[in-house]
Amino acid sequence: MNAVTGLAPSTPAVDRYAVFGNPVAHSRSPAIHARFAVQTGQAIVYEKRLAPLDGFGAAIGAFIAEGGRGANVTVPFKLEAYALATRLTPRAAAAGAVNTLCFDADGIVGDNTDGVGLVTDLAINAGVQIRGRRVLLLGAGGAAQGVMLPLLDAQPSRLVIANRTPDKAAAIASRFNRGAPVGLQVVTCTLDALDSADAPFDIVINATAASLSDAVLQVPACVFAAGTLAYDMMYASAPTAFMRFAASRGASVRDGLGMLVEQAAEAFFVWRGVRPDTATVLADLRAAL
Ligand code: ATR
Repeated sequence: MNAVTGLAPSTPAVDRYAVFGNPVAHSRSPAIHARFAVQTGQAIVYEKRLAPLDGFGAAIGAFIAEGGRGANVTVPFKLEAYALATRLTPRAAAAGAVNTLCFDADGIVGDNTDGVGLVTDLAINAGVQIRGRRVLLLGAGGAAQGVMLPLLDAQPSRLVIANRTPDKAAAIASRFNRGAPVGLQVVTCTLDALDSADAPFDIVINATAASLSDAVLQVPACVFAAGTLAYDMMYASAPTAFMRFAASRGASVRDGLGMLVEQAAEAFFVWRGVRPDTATVLADLRAAL
């Protein structure tokens, strides 16, 4: 009996997972998890489910009643998933949002694998060390807050959050400074004042929504230098406006496709206890973009 739904789950032959979103048709998660399952010999099915905008909780409840074992959550339901969870992992609590759910006899565990996905993509796939480096995080919405804890855990020497609306950056910084490692205080800045914030940076991460509209972020060119990695959490078939601008300043650039694959791999590990190989999946996704 599930403590949340009050329903006894049915017992399907294979373990079932799904991604919930609205819209969700574009989601690459089913293809990624299908590849992981084949690679690791795990007997799972993973589907996409369109949840009504006012019916996320009911959609999750129905999936649990059908025997669903876990779910990924995408736009616009990550905050609702956070509220729905009966237990939160520390990284989900820090993110204030949930992208991975596990269903067990005691209820719903809410987790967040986005930040680990980013850090793994940077450290392993891009081969860029975060420890001891100067990091600039652009944006102070859910995407930025979601990666703060894993970024801090990776021990940069400096972490600056810059946002168009300064109060939102200040709110995130004050929250994380309470638990920050000694010596690293997160500092904040407006986008246009970044030239006085110890630029250039080693790693510049775009966590704003600007790339959704291919808008050029109003950041001073001096944040980038030849040794900078400019990372856009978004991805598209062509480099984003942020990546094009950074490249024009001599920076190396990377989009968020690897983060997508790595957050999925972490969710797969949470559910199944085995780590898939992400390199081939990432290469195939890249080729198909
Ligand atoms: P998400 O959950 O994707 O982070 P969000 O919470 O709406 O979405 O946050 C969007 C972020 O992108 C914010 O930091 C926003 O800046 P403001 O707080 O000033 O609104 C930022 N953003 C969106 N479009 C932008 C643009 N054209 N230039 C600069 N920042 C932008």
